[in-house]
Amino acid sequence: MNDNLHQLRCFGCGARISGSEARPDFRCANCGDLFEVEYPGWLSRQGHDRPNPGALKWLWRERRCSSETLDQSGVWRFRELLPILNNFGNAVTLLEGNTPLYPLPRAARALGIDQLFAKHQGMNPTGSFKDTGMTAALSVARERSFEWVACASTGNTSAAMAAYAARAGLRSLVLIPEGKIAWGKLSQAMDYGAVTCQLKTDFDGCVKVLAQIVQEAPIYLLNSVNPYRLEGQKTPAFEIAEAFDWNVPDHLIVPGGNLANSSALGKGFRELRELGLVARMPRISVIQAEGANPLVQSFAKFQGEKIEPVEAHTRASAIRIGNPASWRKAAQVVKETGGWCLDVTETEIAIAKAELGAEGLGCEPASAVTLGGLKKLRADGKIAPAETVVLLLTGHTLKDADYTINFHRGTLLEQREASGHEQAIDALRRDAVSVDATPAAVLAAMKDAAL
Ligand code: F0G
Repeated sequence: MNDNLHQLRCFGCGARISGSEARPDFRCANCGDLFEVEYPGWLSRQGHDRPNPGALKWLWRERRCSSETLDQSGVWRFRELLPILNNFGNAVTLLEGNTPLYPLPRAARALGIDQLFAKHQGMNPTGSFKDTGMTAALSVARERSFEWVACASTGNTSAAMAAYAARAGLRSLVLIPEGKIAWGKLSQAMDYGAVTCQLKTDFDGCVKVLAQIVQEAPIYLLNSVNPYRLEGQKTPAFEIAEAFDWNVPDHLIVPGGNLANSSALGKGFRELRELGLVARMPRISVIQAEGANPLVQSFAKFQGEKIEPVEAHTRASAIRIGNPASWRKAAQVVKETGGWCLDVTETEIAIAKAELGAEGLGCEPASAVTLGGLKKLRADGKIAPAETVVLLLTGHTLKDADYTINFHRGTLLEQREASGHEQAIDALRRDAVSVDATPAAVLAAMKDAAL
C-alpha cells in the first residue's frame, strides 16, 4: 500500500483537487466551501489500495504492544486509514490518542441507562482532543516545508498547535480573543513558544483576520478548515469501535463549537462502515451551549440546510463560537446517523461538570455539555435504558481551573441562573474551608462536611 493516496473533495460542489492544489485558506475556488480528504483507492471493491478489514483489526491491536514511535501514537497506529503523507517518517507525534474510555456508573444509575461511558480526549498530551488533529495536519505542514503555522483559537487548538510546532522545530502564530480564553490554555501557547497575539475581537473575528494573513504570507493554516485536522480527529471513532470489539455503541454525544469534531468522528465511523470494519454508525448528537447555538437554530429554522451566525456568549469559552466553519459537515453527520442537535443552559453545564467531577473525571465546561445533553435526551425519551451511550469529553479539567473554583465557591452562577437548582448545586459544591492548624479543627471540619 502506498503512503499517500488522498485527494480533496469539496463538500459543497464536489470539485476534486490534489492536496497540493489547496488554497492557503482551504476554501474551494469554485464555491467557497470546505474540502474533505478522500481516498479514491478505497472506492472500488477490487482496488488493491482498499484495506482488508480483518488484517487491519489485527494489525492495529498488535501495534499497541510495539516499541515503534508511530505505533505508539493512537492516531498513527491507524495510519492505513489516513494515508495523507508521502512519507510517514515526516509524522510529528507526541504519542497522542489511545485515550481512556471510562464507565460512568453513577451517572448511568441516576439516568436509568445500563451502559454509559466517557471517552476522555482531555487525556491527550496537551490536554484536549485537538492533539489528534494537530499531529496529522502539522505533519503535512512539515512535509510541505512550511516554516510557519498559524491558527485562530478559543485556546485548545493554539495549545496543541504550539506544542506540535515546537516538536517539529516550526514557528507558530496564535490569534486569540483577548480576555476570552482560559488561563491554562494561554499559558501553554506561551510555554511552547508561540507568537501569541490577543486581538480585541471574538473567535469569529480572529478567524477573519487570519484568513487574510495566510493569503499574504507563506503560513500554513491549522484551523479545522484544514481537512487534514479532521483526518486525525476521526481516529477516536476507531478507538471507540475497537474498544467495543467492532460493535459500535448506540449513541455518541459530542460538544459542538466550530463543529469540526462531530464532522470528523462522523467521517471516521462512516469510513469504518464503508470499509466493512463495522456494520453501522452510532447515532451522533451534537450539544451546544444555549448562548452559542447556531447549529441548534439551524435545525430549528432550516432543517440544518442553512446557518445564521449568532453573537456567542457562554462561560464554556472553548465553544464560544457564533459562526462555525464545519456546520454543513456536522449537520450531515447528525442527519445521516439519526442523532439530535440541542443546547443546554449555563446552569446545566455547571451541574453536569460538577457531576462528572464527583465521579472522579474532571473535564472542561465545554465537555460537560455532553452530560447535560444526555440528561435532556433521556428526559425526552430519545434514549432507551438498554442503549449504550458514549460521551466525548474534549478537554482536561485543569484547562479552566477558574471555572471550577468559582462553581465550588458559589461565585460562578448568578442568582437568577441558580434559582430552582439550589438543591442540586448545594449537593455538589465542595468549597475549601479555612481551619486552624490543629487536629481538632480539621476533624471538626470533616464532621461538618459529613452532615
Ligand atoms: N471542546 C473543547 C474543549 C474545545 O476546545 C472545542 C473547540 C470544542 C469542544 C468544540 O469542538 O470546534 O470541533 O466543534 N475548540 C476550538 C479551539 C475551537 O480553538 O480550541 P469543535
